[in-house]
Amino acid sequence: MISVPESFITHLECSNCGLTYEHTDPMRTCPSCEKVLFARYDLDKAAGAKVDLQGRDPNMWRYREVMPVKDEANIITLGEGMTPIIDAVRLAKEVGSPRLLLKDEGVCPTGSFKARGLSAAVSKAKELGLTKLTMPSAGNAAGAMAAYAAAGGLEANVFMPKDAPSANQVECLAYGANLTLVDGFINDAGRISGETAAERGLFDVSTLKEPYRAEGKKTMGYEIAEQLGWRLPDVIVYPTGGGTGVVGMWKAFDEMERMGWIGSDRPRMVVVQAEGCAPLVKAYEAGERHAELFPNPHTLAAGMRVPVAIGDYLVLDAVRESGGTALTVTDEQMVRGVSDLSSQEGLFAAPEGGALVAALRKMLDDGTVSRDERVLLLVTGSGLKYLDVLTPALVALR
Ligand SMILES: Cc1ncc(COP(=O)(O)O)c(C=O)c1O
Ligand SMILES: [Zn+2]
Repeated sequence: MISVPESFITHLECSNCGLTYEHTDPMRTCPSCEKVLFARYDLDKAAGAKVDLQGRDPNMWRYREVMPVKDEANIITLGEGMTPIIDAVRLAKEVGSPRLLLKDEGVCPTGSFKARGLSAAVSKAKELGLTKLTMPSAGNAAGAMAAYAAAGGLEANVFMPKDAPSANQVECLAYGANLTLVDGFINDAGRISGETAAERGLFDVSTLKEPYRAEGKKTMGYEIAEQLGWRLPDVIVYPTGGGTGVVGMWKAFDEMERMGWIGSDRPRMVVVQAEGCAPLVKAYEAGERHAELFPNPHTLAAGMRVPVAIGDYLVLDAVRESGGTALTVTDEQMVRGVSDLSSQEGLFAAPEGGALVAALRKMLDDGTVSRDERVLLLVTGSGLKYLDVLTPALVALR
C-alpha cells in the first residue's frame, strides 16, 4: 500500500528526436528539433498506485504518481476531473448505438476540459518559479488559465481572436487576466503571444509547446480506464483542434500498459473536425504525417478553429496506430448534435460535443462503427459557454 502519493517524474523526452532534458528547468519545445516534449516517469515505482486509488479525492490529481508536480504545495486545484461517464440510454436508441457512453467534461471548473491541462501547466509553472504566463487561446483555455493563475497568484496574459465567445472574454476579465483581442485567428494570436513573451519575459503555455498541459489532458485516459473497470471502450470520439486530448489519452494508455494496469487493447481513436477547419482530416486522408495550414478557417465551434497544430504527427500517429479515423461535420450538424444531447440526455453541450453525435451518425451509417461496439463520446465542454452562437442557432432549429 502506498500511504503518501508522490510524483515519480524523472525527465523530459522529445517525442521526435528522443533527446532528454531536466524537468526541473522551464522548457517549451525540444531545443534541438522544436517538436513536442513529453514528461517521463519511473513507471515501475508508479505502478503500485493502482491499488491505492479508491480512497483518493475525486479529481485528476488522484494519479499523482504520474503527474508532473513534485511538491504538493504547488498543486493548484479547483477539483477538475473525475467527470461522470453517462450511459446515454435515450440517445443510444435514437442513433442506433446501444452501448453509447458520454463523458461530460462540461462539469469541470470553468466549464470545459481545458481545466485539466491548465491545472497541470500552471501548477508546474509555479513549481518552476515562473510568475508571469501568456497564452493564445481560441476560447476555453484562456478562461481556464486565468482561473488557475488567479488561484495560484500568477499573472495571466491572454491573446484571443476578437470573435472568440463572449463568455471566454468575460471570464478572463473576472479572473483578473490581461486580455488582448487579436484581429485574426488562433495562429495570429499565437504569434503575438510569442512576441510579447520574448519582450516581457513571460512564459508561453501554448498547448503542446510546453510539456505539461498534455499531462493534465492525459488524465481523461486514466479516468476512462478506472471508471470503466480498466476495460477501455472500443471507440473514443474526440472533437479536435490542436489534438492535445488525443495525444494525452494515447500517452496515458501507453503508461498504463507499461504499469500493468491495462492490456494491449486500444480504443480506435476518432478525430472529428469542422468542415470549415479540418487540417488533420485533410492530412489523414492524404496519408500525410504533417498537416498544412488550413486556409480561411471558420466554424462556430471556437475550440476546433485551429488551422495548424504542432502535435499533428502525434495525433495522426495515434489515429493510425489505433485503427481509428478522422472525419468532418458541418456547423449545422453540430448544432443538431447539441440539440440531441440536450433534449435526449439533459446534457447541454458545447458545439464541439454536438459534433461528436453527428460524427457517430455518419460512422454508423457507413459501417466504420458497428452497433455492438462500446463508443465513448468525449463531450469536452458546456453549452453555457457558447450562448452567443448557440442561442440563434438553436432558435433557428425550432
Ligand atoms: C470545448 C472544446 N472542445 C475541444 C477543443 C479542442 O481541444 P484539443 O486542443 O485537445 O484538440 C477545445 C479547444 O479549445 C475546446 O474548447
Ligand atoms: Zn527533438
